[in-house]
Amino acid sequence: MPALSSRLDRFEPSPISQLFDRATRKKSEGKTLWDFSTGEPDFDTPPHICLAGKNAIDAGDTRYTPVAGTVALKAAISRKFSRDNDLEFSPSQIVVGAGAKPLIAAAMQAVVGTGDEVILTTPCWPSHVGMIGLAGATPSRVPVNEKTAFKLNPELLSRAITPRTKLLILCSPSNPTGAVYSADELRALGEVLQAHPDIWVLSDDLYEHIIFDGRRFATLAQAAPGLSERILTVNGVSKSYAMTGWRIGFGGGPRRWIDGIGKIFTQSNGGPCSISQAAAIAALDGPQSFLADWTKIYQHRRDLALAGLKHAPGLECAVPEGAFYLMPNCAGVLGKTTPGGTRIKTSTDFSSYLFEHWGVVVIPGPGFDCDPYFRMSTATSEAVITAGTARIRDACKALT
Ligand SMILES: Cc1ncc(COP(=O)(O)O)c(C=O)c1O
Repeated sequence: MPALSSRLDRFEPSPISQLFDRATRKKSEGKTLWDFSTGEPDFDTPPHICLAGKNAIDAGDTRYTPVAGTVALKAAISRKFSRDNDLEFSPSQIVVGAGAKPLIAAAMQAVVGTGDEVILTTPCWPSHVGMIGLAGATPSRVPVNEKTAFKLNPELLSRAITPRTKLLILCSPSNPTGAVYSADELRALGEVLQAHPDIWVLSDDLYEHIIFDGRRFATLAQAAPGLSERILTVNGVSKSYAMTGWRIGFGGGPRRWIDGIGKIFTQSNGGPCSISQAAAIAALDGPQSFLADWTKIYQHRRDLALAGLKHAPGLECAVPEGAFYLMPNCAGVLGKTTPGGTRIKTSTDFSSYLFEHWGVVVIPGPGFDCDPYFRMSTATSEAVITAGTARIRDACKALT
């Protein structure tokens, strides 16, 4: 039998997709679940954006587009970066991908390879680690926790840098912790990077608009403009505009890096969907006021979920500053025993207990390279949050 490529051994399949499949199976068997696994907005794509997509079809806008995105979408992205982030990019400094995910994967492949190290904090978005492996490089994990507000700081960054460091990944607001870097915190990281001119930085800003308690969003290229020649600022319409299925992500950065990503796309993805690109223009150029309304709803759900978990014995939860995730620490339930007689040793055991006995779906920490935590998405209804957190509370109380 022919062998598969050794490349497949360099990374794990997405744990979130696996769990999604398991939960879908249960649901199809007629089981009620309180599902906190989904990493996508539960809002519908706004009608004016859908209409732009429909109009594109009617206008026959259904053919191949330039690989790095249409001229019109790149212009809209350039306006977005200028309006929201004080970043000025010419069209040749912008690349569009079929979602931010393939764009980030191509961005890594363009700058790192065998022998290179990529710094990222853990807990992290699992795909960042997977994509590092896929590019042939090695993740250099910097564990962060409640003590550092789940953020990298200059001291941790300095300690993590080695002669092999080629790339730093920042993700703010963070999936999965909800940590948000302030402009000052980014400037301080920028000062460290100033002394290391051979390190690229990828700033994953997908959750830019979901930011709580009156904080202002900042991104590294804006806070540390002196580094702009080596920062790729990645964003997209999936999370902010409830457009996960349309598959449009984009990046702005130095021409060399952008051209490298475009070159990879010429032999992999090709251009993104023409209809989705037309819809993304409507998203970026259209009314923006609903974003603040949605953020208010996400913040209310965060507060509801935190209140629901407050009296769950054994759980502690930091207050997320953005995104739509909670990352409760479940150290306090380890060593306890379920009513069925199983000893809980890890967050995976605890998550299985929640799933099997209480119908509550959360994602255990190892999926995010950490323990003993689990991730809950609050991109779901208030009814699910209230009932689901009550079940988690009861599940904790039932442990002995
Ligand atoms: C931090 C982060 N970056 C990037 C992505 C990818 O987004 P897209 O839907 O545009 O591929 C996700 C999706 O979950 C994410 O959480």
